[in-house]
Amino acid sequence: ARLVVLVSGAGTNLQALLDACADPAYGAQVVAVGADRSGTGGVERAERAGLPAFTRAIPDFASRDAWDEALTAAVAAHEPDLVVSAGFMKILGPRFLARFGGRTVNTHPALLPSFAGAHAVRDALAYGVKVTGCTVHFVDEGVDTGPVIAQETVQVRRGDDEESLHQRIKRVERRLLVDVVGRLARDGWTVQGRRVSMKSSDS
Ligand code: GRF
Repeated sequence: ARLVVLVSGAGTNLQALLDACADPAYGAQVVAVGADRSGTGGVERAERAGLPAFTRAIPDFASRDAWDEALTAAVAAHEPDLVVSAGFMKILGPRFLARFGGRTVNTHPALLPSFAGAHAVRDALAYGVKVTGCTVHFVDEGVDTGPVIAQETVQVRRGDDEESLHQRIKRVERRLLVDVVGRLARDGWTVQGRRVSMKSSDS
């Protein structure tokens, strides 16, 4: 399966996918990487891997709609089977979702629906939860509101700050994202309402 990965930051989730794709049995390959800003670690990792990388930054466009259209066209040029938002920090627009909704997954560093939004780890810590985690879900028109595909828990430790907790979550998140993307890519899935079933597992 052809994957396009969208990034905004360091790109460690992207790197985990690139490493997994090196095994032909994984059944997917990253064909391009897109970013919403220049100079991200994710784009550097793509270039190091010899992959096409494109940047579509909102300030470069006359309107959010124009950005939505440009991002959609840039992704479509690579004919993905699955789009993976790996720390992409922009809300995908209606044109993008019309084209790729239903086959775009996002990874979020909290147990949705708890702590949706851009500061999930900080919010969970501030709330004082004892257990948090990460979620891989399909993207819909909301913010972190699409159907849940898989989740995994992470214990909050005494003395955790946002950085230490996020790093611990990211270790679990990278493994969960690689596992889920591989299963979706190899075996497919079904969705009934909000319930997602991956064909390759009982989850
Ligand atoms: C991930 O934890 C993702 O869930 C969140 O931002 C982080 C991105 O990390 N939105 P990276 O860029 O993949 O290292």
